[in-house]
Amino acid sequence: MNISGNTIFIPGATSGIGLALALALQARGNTVIVGGRRTELLDRIAAEHPGIDTVQIDTADAASVTAAAERVLARHPQLNVLVTMAGIMRVEDWHKPETFLASAEEIVTTNLLGPIRLIAAFVAHLQSRPDATIVTVSSGLAFAPLKATPSYNASKAAIHMLSESIRLQLADTSVRVVELVPPSVRTALLPGQESSDFAMPLDEFVAEVVGLLDSEPDATEIQVERVKFLRYGEARGDYDQVVATLNAADPHGR
Ligand SMILES: NC(=O)c1ccc[n+]([C@@H]2O[C@H](COP(=O)([O-])OP(=O)(O)OC[C@H]3O[C@@H](n4cnc5c(N)ncnc54)[C@H](OP(=O)(O)O)[C@@H]3O)[C@@H](O)[C@H]2O)c1
Repeated sequence: MNISGNTIFIPGATSGIGLALALALQARGNTVIVGGRRTELLDRIAAEHPGIDTVQIDTADAASVTAAAERVLARHPQLNVLVTMAGIMRVEDWHKPETFLASAEEIVTTNLLGPIRLIAAFVAHLQSRPDATIVTVSSGLAFAPLKATPSYNASKAAIHMLSESIRLQLADTSVRVVELVPPSVRTALLPGQESSDFAMPLDEFVAEVVGLLDSEPDATEIQVERVKFLRYGEARGDYDQVVATLNAADPHGR
C-alpha cells in the first residue's frame, strides 16, 4: 500500500500497536479512524489528536461490527484501508478445561471471527475504491508455538491462512491483502509485557513497520527483523530449536 493519502480504519487502536500505528500513519499524511470498546480512551485520543476520528466498536459482537462499519463508511466514504488490529491473548492451562474453555472461546471470537466479520463488512466497499488494502494482524506465534497460549497461537495461525486465502480470491480486484506479523512487542497484551526485556520496544517496532510500508509498498507480509527467527524456522530447518528457544526465553513459557 502507499504510505500516504489513505483513509484508514483501525479497530483495536485504543492502545498498544494499534494506537502507535494510528499516530504514525496520521503523521505520514493519512486520515485515521480509531476503533475500540473503551470509550474513555476513544474520547481522550480524539481530544489529544485533532484530525483522528473515533468509533466505538466491539469486534466480538456481530451487530456492533455492522453498526460501526455503517458509521465509518457514512462519515468516510473515501475509506480505502482496513486494519483488523483488535486482539486478545491469554495464558491457558490445558490440563484443566474448567480454567480455559470460556476464555479460549473469547479468543477465537475476537481474534478470528472478529477479523472475518470486519472484512465481510468492508470488502464490498473496498472493491469500489481504486486502490484498497486489508491489513490483517497475525503474530510470530502463528509460525512457532508459545506453550502457554495455545488458543492464541491457533487463532493467529488461522489469520495467516485466512490472509493467504483471501489474497488469492481478491487478486482480481483493487483490494490487496497485507499481513502484519509482529514479534513480541511491549504492550499491555499480556500482564507484564509492557516492561518485558523479551519484547521489542513499541516505538522501535512501529518505526520499522512504517519504514517497511514505505520501502516495500507491494509486500504481502510486513515482517520486522525480530520476527524472522519465528517466521522462518520451518523454512530454515531449525523449527525444533526455535520452539525450544522461544519457550525457554519467554516469561510465559511455563
Ligand atoms: N504485542 C505483541 O507482542 C503482539 C505480537 C503479535 C501480535 N500482536 C497483535 O497485535 C494486536 C494489537 O495488540 P497489542 O499488543 O497492541 O495489545 P493491546 O495494547 O492490548 O491492544 C489491543 C487492542 O485491541 C482492542 N480490542 C480487544 N478486544 C476488542 C474487541 N472485542 N473489540 C474491539 N477492540 C478490541 C483493544 O481495545 P479496547 O480494549 O478499547 O476494545 C486494544 O485497542 C493484537 O491483534 C495482537 O494479537 C501483538
